[in-house]
Amino acid sequence: MTNQLDKKSQAWSALFSEPMSELVKRYTSSVFFDKRLWQADIAGSLAHADMLAHQGIISAQDLADIERGMARITVEIETGTFEWKLDLEDVHLNIEARLTQLVGIAGKRLHTGRSRNDQVATDVRLWLRGEIDLIGELLVGLQKALIEAAADHTETILPGFTHLQVAQPVSFAHHLLAYVEMFARDAERMADVRRRTNRLPLGSAALAGTGYPLDRERVARALGMVDAQGVAQVCHNSLDAVSDRDFAMEFAAAASICMVHISRLSEELIIWMSQNFGFIQLADRFTTGSSIMPQKKNPDVPELARGKTGRVVGHLMGLITLMKGQPLAYNKDNQEDKEPLFDTVDTLKDTLRIFAEMIGGITVNASAMQAAARRGYATATDLADYLVKKGLPFRDAHEVVAHAVKTAQNLGVDLSELPLATLQTFNPAVQADVFDVLSLKGSLAARNTLGGTAPARVRAEIERHRARLG
Ligand code: ARG
Repeated sequence: MTNQLDKKSQAWSALFSEPMSELVKRYTSSVFFDKRLWQADIAGSLAHADMLAHQGIISAQDLADIERGMARITVEIETGTFEWKLDLEDVHLNIEARLTQLVGIAGKRLHTGRSRNDQVATDVRLWLRGEIDLIGELLVGLQKALIEAAADHTETILPGFTHLQVAQPVSFAHHLLAYVEMFARDAERMADVRRRTNRLPLGSAALAGTGYPLDRERVARALGMVDAQGVAQVCHNSLDAVSDRDFAMEFAAAASICMVHISRLSEELIIWMSQNFGFIQLADRFTTGSSIMPQKKNPDVPELARGKTGRVVGHLMGLITLMKGQPLAYNKDNQEDKEPLFDTVDTLKDTLRIFAEMIGGITVNASAMQAAARRGYATATDLADYLVKKGLPFRDAHEVVAHAVKTAQNLGVDLSELPLATLQTFNPAVQADVFDVLSLKGSLAARNTLGGTAPARVRAEIERHRARLG
């Protein structure tokens, strides 16, 4: 009998009266992108073969042949000598055909009790699990870069904004640590997605399970698909196992949220770097010049990251839409899960890596930040709080301070530059100690609740994060 997989230019099987059209072959083939799953595919096959032999479904000799063949294929792929064939449709058929070419009949036995449906679901999960781990490490790197940048700036005053209008002074460190919180939650989300990704579909076969006496737990353990207690994690319904891609959607959602965080940070870096703000400089190696305007230094990296966020969010939409009309169980639609997933992973990883490096190279213009805080009357709330302490109801204090700000604006000075006598015309309760709260430093130090911007608090947060991340 001829090997069907070697002869794909002929008909699929005896059932077909003609070969697939060339156009259909190109349309349905996925090998030129899904070959990226080769390591997961081989790992899954080896675990499956080991279990088949253990269960007496194939012989020990078959297993040895399969292992030998897969070792050879691994070398061929790694050295670039493996010949990927469009005719063989996808990574699974390419590897299996080569295996059979190399080791003969044992190669043909590998697919016992297995379908490409449970095989591909297993491969994607295994591959994604590895990528989630790498993303976790990159998220730690980015958090550390932000924390170390923050450590130098617990006393550096930045105008905090609401509505992009100067609101209250915060420290630059406090602002950076806000992003650390976001990326810490992103890491939590990734770890959570990993738990549900790390479950074994293999053994579900095409859709209904199989009559062979498989030991699915053994395969799961061999592939590291175990929970924290070491208990094997297998998908418990064959229809669900081969068809759902919710782990991919979840991953894309977590990646999208993370990119949105990056995008917000990007927007701030871009604004801060503009001449009108002049708060920071990015290191030259992260900026580009203009071919016509010699004075320009453009923040291309954050701009591009902001742009790439759209593409990752687009992949989430793509994956969700891919699933919405599919009846159980496997449909070929699912082949379309790969490119968006791959691109999401690539984009997120590159972005996290470049941001960790870029953050380390930020130069801060503390006096520009401070001047902006003063210009914006960032301590107006502090004056209101001062009057409350002197016995005024907050609403009345709010009104008094509005008058004070108006007067200061007309005179072109900061609240702290108004003479005491002038301040007392707004309310007689004002005493000389008012100048302590009108200073930006005093304002910062006063916000000493848990989560507040007081330097002592922020330093404690930095220590908490350092301990947490090791
Ligand atoms: N290349 C396919 C995919 O990515 C593999 C599964 C094919 N299964 C099938 N019954 N045609 O989904």
